[in-house]
Amino acid sequence: MVDSLFQEERQLLEDALWAKKRVKLRKNDWEVDQNLEKIKALSFGVGVIGSMLARTIIEQKKDWLEIVGAVDIDQTKVGVDLGRLVGLSDCGVTVQKDATKAINETKPDVILHTTSSYLERTFPELRLLAENGVDIVSSCEELSYPYATNRSMAEDLDAIAKKSQVSILGTGINPGFLMDALPILLTAPCISINKIHVERQMNAANRRIPFQKKIGAGLSEEEFRAAIRNKTISGHVGLLQSISMLADSLRWKLDDIEIEEPVPVILNREAKSDWITVQRGKVAGSRQRAFGVVGGKRIIDYEFSAYIGAEEEFDMVGIQGVPNVSFKSNPCVNGDHGTIAMLINMIPKVLEAPAGLLTMKDLQLPSAANMKIPD
Ligand SMILES: NC(=O)c1ccc[n+]([C@@H]2O[C@H](COP(=O)([O-])OP(=O)(O)OC[C@H]3O[C@@H](n4cnc5c(N)ncnc54)[C@H](OP(=O)(O)O)[C@@H]3O)[C@@H](O)[C@H]2O)c1
Repeated sequence: MVDSLFQEERQLLEDALWAKKRVKLRKNDWEVDQNLEKIKALSFGVGVIGSMLARTIIEQKKDWLEIVGAVDIDQTKVGVDLGRLVGLSDCGVTVQKDATKAINETKPDVILHTTSSYLERTFPELRLLAENGVDIVSSCEELSYPYATNRSMAEDLDAIAKKSQVSILGTGINPGFLMDALPILLTAPCISINKIHVERQMNAANRRIPFQKKIGAGLSEEEFRAAIRNKTISGHVGLLQSISMLADSLRWKLDDIEIEEPVPVILNREAKSDWITVQRGKVAGSRQRAFGVVGGKRIIDYEFSAYIGAEEEFDMVGIQGVPNVSFKSNPCVNGDHGTIAMLINMIPKVLEAPAGLLTMKDLQLPSAANMKIPD
């Protein structure tokens, strides 16, 4: 009796909290009215992606979204105006070091978290942010499908999020969309599926400098192999998460997910980006394959190539089944723009979602948010 009363009360509280979120969202989800309250975001991690995010929000999303606070551990950034830091005029938001203080002072609706690719590293940051009661959209690759990364850590984070009544989502362009949410969506018209091939190839010259470095561009082949051995080059973080999310969506219980080591791409010509010149015979970037295996058969087949000077750029999904489905975007979707867009566009969906640790497959159909009608 007491238990059921308690449960009823708890349910009412949860409904009320969720309803509150929905009301807040409604203000921003339909036509954008200048008089309505904007969604307030706090940027946590003002690195390359965090800076691009801030610039995009300040310059292009100010009708429905505003940055009210910013946090970074880099001492050279702390105390600096965010607008100035990202190459714009001052915007009145000073980068702070202490996240709790920044949250208390600015009362954001959502935190845009862009510090690291790894769940173990980001866990303490995410716990602190969640315990402060704010929804989180993160670019952390391993958070995109955290149950594949570290189940017990994911369950802990889910419990913390539910207790604090916040939603946490890891997303981005890849992982987050091109090699997971998109192929999952493309399986919708299939009656049966025999095999899924997903491939992305890009010219890394079009990406930000940390990306060019993390694929080994400019190294000799020996330096590349040593960097793989000592883990300064990790390969693409996200293949395990994307394949797991796709398989789980189809309820395919895989025997194994094989992630091959990245191999160097070596061109017999010179290739250049704005930052790196790759001499002939040196490493221009890397290529990596991964497979979902059942009964010895590779029924999911992924390939990810990123190198400076790639002649062709594309994203493709090929589904062998009834019916066959084939998708190709040529050129590929620009990764940096795509990441910024995913982080921004998922905000309304996350604000509306129930509390907990979410993945792209748990949300409503992803889409651009609050797009302006073209002139
Ligand atoms: N899912 C996707 O599609 C996708 C796409 C693009 C990027 N990403 C990921 O997003 C992350 C951010 O990328 P990036 O290029 O912007 O990296 P970055 O330039 O290294 O920026 C990270 C920033 O966060 C700061 N930081 C680190 N730990 C912090 C903490 N505990 N508290 C506050 N600030 C902290 C860093 O400061 P210090 O420099 O002092 O450490 C740096 O300023 C990377 O892990 C990247 O791989 C994902």
